[in-house]
Amino acid sequence: MNILVLNGPNLNLLGTREPEIYGRATLDDLARDVQAAFPDVTFAFFQSNHEGELVERLHQAHRDEVDGIVFNPAAYTHTSVALRDAVSAITPPVIEVHMSNVYAREAMRHVSYIAPVAAGKIVGFGMRGYHLAVRYLVDAAQEAAQ
Ligand code: DQA
Repeated sequence: MNILVLNGPNLNLLGTREPEIYGRATLDDLARDVQAAFPDVTFAFFQSNHEGELVERLHQAHRDEVDGIVFNPAAYTHTSVALRDAVSAITPPVIEVHMSNVYAREAMRHVSYIAPVAAGKIVGFGMRGYHLAVRYLVDAAQEAAQ
């Protein structure tokens, strides 16, 4: 099983960025912990601060026929028609993840351009949200194979 874990802008700063909101763990910690939790899954991890690079990576995942994508589009969640169209254009299921509870924050974060075209969405559970999203993708793939 192949899963892409895709992270958007400013998430490269996890560990030092607003730790009271996002905690102290880094993206490297996330990659290590997710891989350790799902040793049988082949993961690709990618982060970019650039909208177009995220679009390209979604297209690449489609060409690679990955089984699922765990995507934290970060601030682009609330602004990007291009990322929404990319998610809508590709076949692999995309799970939208936000570490913080965006609904307990500013009103601008309550809007998601991605949610209507995502398979589902997990918010507010910190880095555990990525694990929950992978769990769903693995379980759904196993059910589909039965
Ligand atoms: C975030 C929430 C977004 O509103 C914000 O712009 C981020 C991170 C989260 O994981 O909680 O950069 O996606």
